[in-house]
Amino acid sequence: MVGYVRPKKIGILTAGGDCPGLNAAIRGVGKTAIVEYGMEVIGFNAGYLGLINNDFFELKESQLSGILTLGGTILGTSREKPYKMIKSGEEDQHKPEKIIQNYNDLGLDCVVCIGGNGTMKTANMLSKEGLNVIGIPKTIDNDVWGTDVTFGFDSAVQIATDAIDRLHTTANSHQRVMIIEIMGHHAGWLALYSGLAGGGDIILLPELDYNIRSVCKKIESRYEENKPYSIVVVAEGINHPKNKTAASHIGEAIQTYTGIETRETILGYIQRGGSPTPMDRILATQYGAYAAQSIAEANFGTMVAIKNNKLTTVPLEDVGGKLRLVDTDLPLIDKARKMGVSFGDEFL
Ligand code: F6P
Repeated sequence: MVGYVRPKKIGILTAGGDCPGLNAAIRGVGKTAIVEYGMEVIGFNAGYLGLINNDFFELKESQLSGILTLGGTILGTSREKPYKMIKSGEEDQHKPEKIIQNYNDLGLDCVVCIGGNGTMKTANMLSKEGLNVIGIPKTIDNDVWGTDVTFGFDSAVQIATDAIDRLHTTANSHQRVMIIEIMGHHAGWLALYSGLAGGGDIILLPELDYNIRSVCKKIESRYEENKPYSIVVVAEGINHPKNKTAASHIGEAIQTYTGIETRETILGYIQRGGSPTPMDRILATQYGAYAAQSIAEANFGTMVAIKNNKLTTVPLEDVGGKLRLVDTDLPLIDKARKMGVSFGDEFL
């Protein structure tokens, strides 16, 4: 038939730790693919596991309605890494081959992989195998290389900031030092942003070496200034003994060296749950729609990204296996220091 263009068939998966905004991104890709480009869309269950096991379902436009505000992911997720070979068990050696087989048997024209660094690493390897792949960056950690921001981060900052706000009042009432441990894996973005937004007195980041004497000195000087309580925001990735949490390590040390009563809060998975903020809904929607457009333009082997407030794509091979950590020269850190916020590395 002259002029006939075969509608493209695409798959979507969400992999790695979940975060608010995943459903908004699925909706963004799916609706744009169906409405604007007439594509057929399927969703794989539980991340790369769905691709390996051919476990999928058709995503019709009607199923993409009403999910914008939902937390979690309607596709489910897993931390499956198909290229991580487990020596025992012949089966495990063949996961990538199974993926390629399923991709071809289903007649897919592209698979959209929504995830963090680990997901992009796998996406890049699949792209190198000849599959058409597009990545969408998500994570509360905000540590994906190649983009200025990931969706999920803004929602997590809001949740963590709210928690810090609440700790302020009880810390003040009891004249205690409150330690709050914030997620972020190896990156300190979430601790930095929520710590500053919540008015934390001390913020400890994995990217900046802290010294416990410096932390204690800051707390004692606040005491002397008639501020007999402090909020210490601790990123989970800071250097600490492996048999303790970061918060308990810092809390115990402060109590020992200053004699001031401390209490610890580990915010945990609350930071990943619930409805996305409006900013995350918009970011995820934009990423999703742009991923669908990139498929239509055959711009494969890429990850959608925001750079200097502009939507763009970056090659997956530049992203895979890298981390975007907090730059210790960030003007924000300098401004905070000048306002008296301690990062535990002063007074040395
Ligand atoms: O990457 C998101 C994240 O929540 C990190 O902040 C945290 O270190 C990790 O995932 C927890 O992983 P899991 O879901 O496997 O416990």
